[in-house]
Amino acid sequence: MIRNTALFLGLVAMAVLLWSVSGDAVPEPPNSRGAAVYQEYCYRCHGMNGEGGEGRFPIRDKAVWTLGVDTVISTIAFGARGDVRANAHGVRKGMPPAPYNDADIAEVTMYVMRVIAKRPSTVTPADVARVKQRHIEALRTRLGAVGQSK
Ligand code: HEC
Repeated sequence: MIRNTALFLGLVAMAVLLWSVSGDAVPEPPNSRGAAVYQEYCYRCHGMNGEGGEGRFPIRDKAVWTLGVDTVISTIAFGARGDVRANAHGVRKGMPPAPYNDADIAEVTMYVMRVIAKRPSTVTPADVARVKQRHIEALRTRLGAVGQSK
């Protein structure tokens, strides 16, 4: 009987221990600069977590999240055209390029990949520079002769 009680107490202690460990949850990777940029800049148009809101643009269900992190970087760095028609004249309401440096764009990209896309990804300033460079080269090619001054 005493042995059983001891066994029982042991099991309870173990359960409590396991519960308290899992209760601590998996810590979120610190990314406070990304969160700060989102709050400071993206929030006004996309709401707290990309859900949009009154007069704002929901982006949670956009296909862009499935297209890979480079597409997300390029959306943030160069803006988006937008499907939303601002008025009866068919003017599109687009997204302006984010006025941030490569390091901040990397941080906010990591933030939205984790919080909105639920696909945590590592993004470095060098990744942002590479995506920008590729985008600019594609523009040069498209513009043809205009790019020859390089
Ligand atoms: C001035 C308003 C504004 C700001 C600021 C803004 N966006 Fe947007 N964003 C838009 C609009 C408008 C669209 C297009 C919405 C649509 O088509 O329904 C858009 C679209 C997007 C899309 C989807 C693009 C696609 O191809 O579907 C993503 C992702 C996005 N924004 C992320 C961000 C992030 C991250 C930030 C902050 C770095 C940000 N936006 C800041 C207005 C804004």
